[in-house]
Amino acid sequence: MNAKDTDTADHKALLAWQIAMGADEAIDDAVIDRFSTSVASVASAGQAAAQAKQSTTPLTQGPKPVAARPVQSIAGGSAESATTAAQAAQTLAELREAMQNFDGGLLKRSAKNLVFSDGVAGAPVMIVGEAPGADEDREGKPFVGVSGQLLDKMLVAADMSRETNVYISNILPWRPLGNRAPDDAVTAMCLPFIRRHIELARPTMVLMLGGVSAKALLGTTEGITRLRGKWKSLSIAGENIPALPIYHPAYLLRQPHLKGLAWRDFLAAKHKLADTVS
Ligand code: URA
Repeated sequence: MNAKDTDTADHKALLAWQIAMGADEAIDDAVIDRFSTSVASVASAGQAAAQAKQSTTPLTQGPKPVAARPVQSIAGGSAESATTAAQAAQTLAELREAMQNFDGGLLKRSAKNLVFSDGVAGAPVMIVGEAPGADEDREGKPFVGVSGQLLDKMLVAADMSRETNVYISNILPWRPLGNRAPDDAVTAMCLPFIRRHIELARPTMVLMLGGVSAKALLGTTEGITRLRGKWKSLSIAGENIPALPIYHPAYLLRQPHLKGLAWRDFLAAKHKLADTVS
């Protein structure tokens, strides 16, 4: 193997490692709304680049790059319009359609697919995660990537599965660009949909995976470390649904020593399920 081959192998390994770590997009720190970047600024950036190429002026004095306009939030529609659309849906199929037709702004436009749900509609256990990742976005189904594989294993260990008694969705139905943590505006826009989703799916209990899910559904700022393992009550459309915050599987993959606590929480859910069935 010559030096060039070694370089290529190293670069491939580095790329594979970055993808495995979740760095699968070239993005900046600030959110950039590419959809509203004007044609003119793109054209002038192109001209500037062409001039710089022909010019003998040193690059340090050359034309400055055109900065795209950063936006504050990637939400588009308002929480009010989401509430109206969600409340008009009378079935899960109608809710999915309402979400397909909803103007979800950059959040929705930058995603490949709506990730609505997986599992058994009407199942006694409903799991609500945070947001789709790249794998979920590609397949249009929640929890199909590595954290989904861990979730499936934990479910089986608690006599549950998405084939039999579990229904799964997320707070955000669209993948945020670069897997960013959702800001308040995005969460507020998506919340009416997941609340209506729970109402229409009618589970006997909800398992909230991770801090984003628990905080959004419970309307609290308390962290998952304090929340996990304690049964709460979700008040949705006049019903009080038992709801348990549990560590997110992606967090457990980074903090495997916490898997025992998650196991305990899934067991608590299993026992509650047995109590509600008998
Ligand atoms: N993480 C989530 O919270 N939801 C998914 O669907 C996938 C990963």
